Amino acid sequence: MMKQNDKYNHFPTKAEDKKSLSVSVKKTASKLTNFINKRRELHVPEDKSLDKIVPGFEDNIVSMRNVKIAYKRGMDERVVVDDFSLDIKRGEIFGLVGESGSGKTTVGRTIMRMIPIKSGEILFNGHRISGKIPRITQRELKSKVQLIFQDPSASLNDRANVDYIISEGIRAFHMYDGEDDRLDKVEKMLQEVGLRPEHLRRYPHEFSGGQRQRIGIARCMIMNPEMVVADEPISALDVSIRAQVLNLIKKFQIEKKMTVLFIAHDLSVVKYISDRIGVIYDGRLVELADANRLFEMPFHPYTKSLLSAVPIPDPREEKNKKIITYDPRMHHYRYDDLPSFYEVEPGHFVRANKAELAKYQKMLAKERRNKK
Ligand SMILES: Nc1ncnc2c1ncn2[C@@H]1O[C@H](COP(=O)(O)OP(=O)(O)OP(=O)(O)O)[C@@H](O)[C@H]1O
Ligand SMILES: [Mg+2]
Repeated sequence: MMKQNDKYNHFPTKAEDKKSLSVSVKKTASKLTNFINKRRELHVPEDKSLDKIVPGFEDNIVSMRNVKIAYKRGMDERVVVDDFSLDIKRGEIFGLVGESGSGKTTVGRTIMRMIPIKSGEILFNGHRISGKIPRITQRELKSKVQLIFQDPSASLNDRANVDYIISEGIRAFHMYDGEDDRLDKVEKMLQEVGLRPEHLRRYPHEFSGGQRQRIGIARCMIMNPEMVVADEPISALDVSIRAQVLNLIKKFQIEKKMTVLFIAHDLSVVKYISDRIGVIYDGRLVELADANRLFEMPFHPYTKSLLSAVPIPDPREEKNKKIITYDPRMHHYRYDDLPSFYEVEPGHFVRANKAELAKYQKMLAKERRNKK
């Protein structure tokens, strides 16, 4: 055996030399493999690009599977969205409705990778976009999914003029051929959102709230996104101009065949614009259905409470209407009959336990009998 002090006087034998050489070769080889893998990850083959829809995902642009999202605060962690599963169909306007703090913004921003998820999975065109993904895919996603903010005054850089603000995205992604083409694109977009070419040199503070939101929409739409997350885009606006901005979003959705996740905190806003509506309470989806069907046949008591708050055009009826309040304790869920998200009728899902599900099915049977 070699003593500690003999270490430096020891001349390695042939066998020891061979062993140390093989260790260093292995180390170099593993470093090289890591390097090659990293390069491979950066170069995404064409079939891995988000453009190429994975077979089976032709209908759904975004699929969220059992997503859990938590915010960390020091050592503490608070789960704000849990067991969240949702498919957003290609080309639809999906309305996500719920009260303040229910997790709507968190869900929207998670799709854009602005907030990481704790568990579950998010797919875009069938490709996983949650967790660790190649940088090139992140960049692709950044150009394909755009965000319209709630407060246009806070989201626009006050020190940049309209031309600069609208061009920011196409500059970052080199989406034009020369300065003339860029200007042409910006002017066209300005016109499409109802602003004039002379507005190009002005600054956000020189515009009204509605106009600022139009600038925000132009900044988004110039990117030709496949999907837009509109996070309460009209809440901060004057009631008189809300319909105009809603119509503008709807116009782009139809013309460009894009998908919209429209976030709102009351049902009256999403009623006219959405194809389908999801109701979120305390970070969980409680009901999901076609917009008309949700208004016609709501099941979950929280959906009913939201519906009871929708304004009625008739002033007399509006005065006498009863607003239903929702208390989650009313369910009396027991450990042996916990709630799950069930499809009560085709395309209509509700969070319920077995006893509630039976009640909802009876309601449906009654409706069918009445219709006969
Ligand atoms: N950065 C953050 N750090 C810690 N907690 C957060 C953070 N952002 C949001 N939350 C918490 O997560 C929960 C969901 O917030 P989120 O902003 O998604 O709600 P929301 O439905 O969009 O509400 P609102 O209608 O008011 O915009 C809330 O309880 C909120 O307090
Ligand atoms: Mg929000």
